[in-house]
Amino acid sequence: MPPMKVDNLKQGFFGIGIQNGKTPENLGVLWRSAQNMGASFIFTIGNRYAKQACDTHKAVGAMPYFHYETFEDFYTHLPKGAMLVGVELTEEAEPLEEFKHPRRCVYLLGAEDHGLSKKAIEKAHFLVKFRSTYSLNVSVAGSIVMYDRGMKQ
Ligand SMILES: C[S@@+](CC[C@H](N)C(=O)[O-])C[C@H]1O[C@@H](n2cnc3c(N)ncnc32)[C@H](O)[C@@H]1O
Repeated sequence: MPPMKVDNLKQGFFGIGIQNGKTPENLGVLWRSAQNMGASFIFTIGNRYAKQACDTHKAVGAMPYFHYETFEDFYTHLPKGAMLVGVELTEEAEPLEEFKHPRRCVYLLGAEDHGLSKKAIEKAHFLVKFRSTYSLNVSVAGSIVMYDRGMKQ
């Protein structure tokens, strides 16, 4: 009999989600990336996810999806020991290229129109950005961060 796979006993996990995401298409694309790039869960804050054709791999049925009405609700229920990593193109954010991803963390992306809220920026344990002339589409941004995490592991 082949040995049992023990990958799921490895320490560490990450979740990824959007604060007040505006378009269901972006969420669908982000979920698809999350499912394929090793996320343990996905979530929304504020605006809720509605079933979307872009989520072709049906991530919502394949991994836990959490919804929080407010940032406070989300922040209070962060998984034990997980760091909050805000992804935002702000002055104070550190470059993703040099970022050491926490073993257990939650990546939070901002809305298409207003980005992350002030509160989220204040409360994030880390803020990261990657080089781009203007801000990128939110699901593209999330995919870049997850790819970077995967490459550094
Ligand atoms: C379209 S952008 C928001 C733009 C918003 N108008 C602003 O200026 O704050 C949507 C989200 O994508 C992510 N994002 C896009 N480009 C990024 C970059 N270069 N570095 C980090 N995050 C980025 C952030 O989470 C951002 O909140």
